[in-house]
Amino acid sequence: MNTKPTICIIGTGGTIAGAGTSATSANYESGQVDTSKLVNAVSGLEKIANVRTETLFSTGSENLSPKSWRILARRIEELSENPNINAFVVTHGTDTLEEASFFLDLVCKSKKPIVLTGAMRSSTALSADGPANIFHAALTATSPKIKNQGVLVVMNGLIIQGVQAIKTDSVALQSFSAYPGGPIGKIVGEEVFVTENSRPSPLIGRFFNHLQHDRELPFVDIIILRGGCADHQVKALGNAKPKGLVIAGFGAGTVPNNLADFISHKESNGCIFIISSRVSKVTVIPETMTKINNSNVLPAGVLNAQKSAILLSLGLEENLKADDLSKLFKIFAMQ
Ligand code: SIN
Repeated sequence: MNTKPTICIIGTGGTIAGAGTSATSANYESGQVDTSKLVNAVSGLEKIANVRTETLFSTGSENLSPKSWRILARRIEELSENPNINAFVVTHGTDTLEEASFFLDLVCKSKKPIVLTGAMRSSTALSADGPANIFHAALTATSPKIKNQGVLVVMNGLIIQGVQAIKTDSVALQSFSAYPGGPIGKIVGEEVFVTENSRPSPLIGRFFNHLQHDRELPFVDIIILRGGCADHQVKALGNAKPKGLVIAGFGAGTVPNNLADFISHKESNGCIFIISSRVSKVTVIPETMTKINNSNVLPAGVLNAQKSAILLSLGLEENLKADDLSKLFKIFAMQ
């Protein structure tokens, strides 16, 4: 009798499905290889699971967006209804993997493991890392040690909660970190080790309603500060009148005076500002950020600008006000 679990591997493109004309060049095109072909290159996979594959997108993840991730989330939820599927592995470009994993964690309710993975080297590169990452992701997705953890990211042998996954290196194999905290586990050979760090997000599936309609999420822009903020940039903000804006400020959330003046000015009323930081490991709390006299200005806690923009968009779609949004951001600060 076949007692192996069945996993569905969903391809969405990225370097993991990339192909180049030379095994040694850094040049390749993302999303060229069909998921079934990727999976065929993973020796040992057949020992641990029955595998179904499908390819949802075939592009670099720089071309994916909350709209694409909603399509992905809906597909996972739909397939989740199938009692013959036990878990999901999603192959994804690493460039927006941290947003995809955060988004999926917030909108998916499925109790079945969802594990995202990618690769730093294309499928045709010398020492491609995709096959090992897919194997590790499948081991994690089918491990009895992984229960109700929400969306996970598995890269380079580390198991990271999706909400905490951040990409911290452009090219190295060790390109993902877990912040704050650390990886919740690792894979050695065919063994999954889970540490005691594992604290699933209390917001798993909190925005499931987003999957029930086709409205586009309110677009939340991100402004990354550099030393100095030109007055014409501040003026342009005033003209744009956004519903929400994330500012990747300095250090622990400081912003220059001209921007702080604008944010506290009555013309900005109604817009929710999230103050994050341009550093890779963000901590912005009321005590550390520039004091701004506007109750619509909220600290990002430990969320970087791109994760802050996802959470703010989902919150604005539900017409959440500053108080409720502030509670959501604090949840991550306390994780
Ligand atoms: C991408 O994100 O699609 C390209 C980069 C990568 O997958 O590592």
